[in-house]
Amino acid sequence: MEHVIDRVLLDETALQAKVQELGERITRDYEGKDLLVVGILKGSLLFMADLLRAIRIPLEIDFMALSSYGSGASTSGEVRILKDLDQSIENRHVLVVEDVIDTGLTLNYLMDNLKSRGAASVKVCTILDKPERRRVAMTVDYNGFTIPDEFVVGYGLDYAQQYRHLPFVAVLKREVYGG
Ligand code: XMP
Ligand code: MG
Repeated sequence: MEHVIDRVLLDETALQAKVQELGERITRDYEGKDLLVVGILKGSLLFMADLLRAIRIPLEIDFMALSSYGSGASTSGEVRILKDLDQSIENRHVLVVEDVIDTGLTLNYLMDNLKSRGAASVKVCTILDKPERRRVAMTVDYNGFTIPDEFVVGYGLDYAQQYRHLPFVAVLKREVYGG
């Protein structure tokens, strides 16, 4: 992988330590509540699997897949649901798990959509946040790392569907993008 990676931004040790910390906070905050953890496919897959193992209270899981209209790396704000939840979330405490919050448009749409279904609460947990690129104000309830405005891959994040399996978060070399 050395030939495509410019530099590692977050190594496996840093990611795993942060995930444990987030899991402990979530455990405390949701104690005694009916918790449904919703992973957003495909980017959240690795984070979701690690985070779930760090949460020490009963919970259920579900997944959604979303697609934004328009081109690959950025979003237009118009979101299409490719895979919806399997169940009603009425009166349930929903925790959405994301890979990265960038413009915030995808999540803004999703939060409104989930709240309109009568959930008791809807919060978000992301492993990465790029606040410099935000286009809508939003509260990030649980954030792993604030990162600069650079395109990153690994730990679930892809470039052209590649590199999701890397156990670290890295910046790709410029030539990989054809730039
Ligand atoms: P918003 O709506 O917050 O969308 O702009 C967030 C989605 O954009 C993708 N995204 C990235 N994917 N590396 C990636 O692999 C990145 O650096 C990156 N920044 C944004 C991602 O799909 C995320 O869910
Ligand atoms: Mg995504």
